Amino acid sequence: MRIPLLLLLAHSVFAGEWKRKWCGKEYRAGQPISPPGGHFPFPVTTTTPQLVLRCNAALMPFLPDDLVDNSSSLILVDALVRYKEIAGAQPLIIPSSPDVELFVNVSVDGMPLTSGTVSLNGSAAIPFSLSAISPRSVPYSLGCTATLSSSEQNFTSTPTKLVYLPSPPDSIGSITKLDQRTGGLLAKRAFTQDPYEPIFPVGFYTQFGGYLEGNDGVLEVLKRQGINVVRVHPIPPYDDLTAFNRMVDKMEELGLWLMYDMRWSYMNSTSVTEQVISLRDRTNLLLYYTADEPDGSQDPLAAPASAATLINSLDPYRPSSLVLNCQDYFFSDYAAGTPILMQDAYPIGINPNYSVVYDTPCTTEHGCCGCDNCVGKFEDIRNRMDDFAMRLEVLGWERSKSIWTVPQGFGSAEFWSRTPTYTEFLVQMIVAVNAGARGSISWTDPTTPDIKAATSQFTSALPELTPFLLSSPLSSPPVHFARVITPDRLDFGVWVSSRGEALVMAANLNYFPLNVVLDEVLSATQFKWLGLVDPRLVVDGGARIVGTRVTFGSVRSGAWIFRVIQSSWWTTLRMQLDGYIDIFTLN
Ligand SMILES: *[C@@H]1O[C@H](CO)[C@@H](O)[C@H](O)[C@H]1NC(C)=O
Ligand SMILES: *[C@@H]1O[C@H](CO)[C@@H](O)[C@H](O)[C@H]1NC(C)=O
Ligand SMILES: *[C@@H]1O[C@H](CO)[C@@H](O)[C@H](O)[C@H]1NC(C)=O
Ligand SMILES: *[C@@H]1O[C@H](CO)[C@@H](O)[C@H](O)[C@H]1NC(C)=O
Ligand SMILES: *[C@@H]1O[C@H](CO)[C@@H](O)[C@H](O)[C@H]1NC(C)=O
Ligand SMILES: *[C@@H]1O[C@H](CO)[C@@H](O)[C@H](O)[C@H]1NC(C)=O
Repeated sequence: MRIPLLLLLAHSVFAGEWKRKWCGKEYRAGQPISPPGGHFPFPVTTTTPQLVLRCNAALMPFLPDDLVDNSSSLILVDALVRYKEIAGAQPLIIPSSPDVELFVNVSVDGMPLTSGTVSLNGSAAIPFSLSAISPRSVPYSLGCTATLSSSEQNFTSTPTKLVYLPSPPDSIGSITKLDQRTGGLLAKRAFTQDPYEPIFPVGFYTQFGGYLEGNDGVLEVLKRQGINVVRVHPIPPYDDLTAFNRMVDKMEELGLWLMYDMRWSYMNSTSVTEQVISLRDRTNLLLYYTADEPDGSQDPLAAPASAATLINSLDPYRPSSLVLNCQDYFFSDYAAGTPILMQDAYPIGINPNYSVVYDTPCTTEHGCCGCDNCVGKFEDIRNRMDDFAMRLEVLGWERSKSIWTVPQGFGSAEFWSRTPTYTEFLVQMIVAVNAGARGSISWTDPTTPDIKAATSQFTSALPELTPFLLSSPLSSPPVHFARVITPDRLDFGVWVSSRGEALVMAANLNYFPLNVVLDEVLSATQFKWLGLVDPRLVVDGGARIVGTRVTFGSVRSGAWIFRVIQSSWWTTLRMQLDGYIDIFTLN
């Protein structure tokens, strides 16, 4: 986040010129207005269906430790049917029978690896033998070809990377893999036999100077508050490198993961190299962070991707991340190459139409109101998440990148007339999670006790939430998901696990009470044949379940875990037909 004048100016001075635009828009009064450009090109709509064949490795990267348990040695094949010319789209003649399958051959570097089937408009995980290839630092080129069984149509995927690295050298202290089945992180210390831990990161961008610096007590409090990723951004000059290293020591001791921020130096390859080399032996380094709102400050378009490439060459065992602030400004350039993409739409307490800081109107071509092209509602967060997800699919990056959210944890300054409350903070998180966020790092700590309490409320439920939030129909166990947004602005996420449990996460986006019958929500999903019973509240944002109704006060929310029952033989049959429930356990 940011935009504070001072930082903006500081940044511009570094860049050697005065930046007078944010997201490509002039924001000072009396200046000529010109269209910002850089809009994401919408894919052309087609009248005939297109098949988009996509092939990805289940894990990024694979390591020799995956030889022990082959359950993740999988190639993920997606056979999307779309009426749009997205990346890799090829015309499709839809066969008369709807239950057709594609036969898929998978190859690495042009050599056959495995084969399997995928249903039309479906996804499949095809097992392969990792021992058939050798570990190396150079990625393999992964490609698929597919034939439609019922007709003579062939399809080819755009090649992606399969990375199979050697076991880490001593200079690497921990490993973080991206699970491309779920979008989640899997992390562990290097040189241990411990299993990888699925991590749904929840934390804050955390001030170093004057807060964390030289103060172990702060870390202990954060640990008690359940903050599992502390974001530290050493803003130069950070003269006290000793204090920084002592802090990382303490974090290692407390088991707190570090997201290491290089916002001020990510364009300086000498500096990035020094920093990565000095930190990569840490046992708690979860991931790197490069550019902070490079689209807002209009950094060179290729800068984030080249930082990610450099980091990967020095440490291929952890991913890198960045945050984009603009709604639609050179998205594909700034997002390229970086696996974790964050969005930071901050809608609370803004005037979306008029800039109180710069005294100008805000439009799609002009002005800066603290939230780019926003309306000042929770929907800004959802729309930003959905826009990003849509663009990733268009570009063919939907499995190789995960989207995280940056909830607004500040206010009462600049564009933001007030600070979010406890309930508003949880609503921000839930709207983003229901839209697919795989992590939540708020700007910024120190913050209010209410926002800390809301974060703790969420993190205390993580052991129960993570199996649902980091899941997909291709994970084990398979979990199916649906989102329902009611016309009166209730936002529901529903996860149904084949283990016979369901998670419902819901928020009322209105500043007045509302309630809804849960079955009405379910009837809008593929789960309409299921009965959800015995709700257990796991995240308390003030909403309640009373009988068959979910009751919400003003901006109240909640998450519940249910037991799933089948109400009749028909349900059982129907579920089996639909393939929603594979092994259904009733107790
Ligand atoms: C393909 O699946 C998507 C959802 O994944 C759905 O929205 C779309 O309608 C399906 N298309 C066809 C042609 O079945
Ligand atoms: C995975 O391991 C199981 C048993 O350990 C074995 O039966 C199976 O063939 C293996 N799968 C592949 C694709 O190698
Ligand atoms: C898959 O491989 C088999 C065996 O090499 C070959 O006969 C078949 O034509 C291939 N199919 C596709 C779709 O490439
Ligand atoms: C599809 O691929 C197979 C195997 O490579 C080939 O025999 C067949 O002629 C191809 N069909 C078309 C329509 O190109
Ligand atoms: C880049 O980083 C190096 C190493 O920290 C430093 O010596 C150099 O001054 C930096 N260059 C610029 C242009 O800031
Ligand atoms: C901003 O302008 C739009 C369109 O004129 C209007 O509907 C909306 O209420 C305004 N929002 C605020 C917060 O003033």
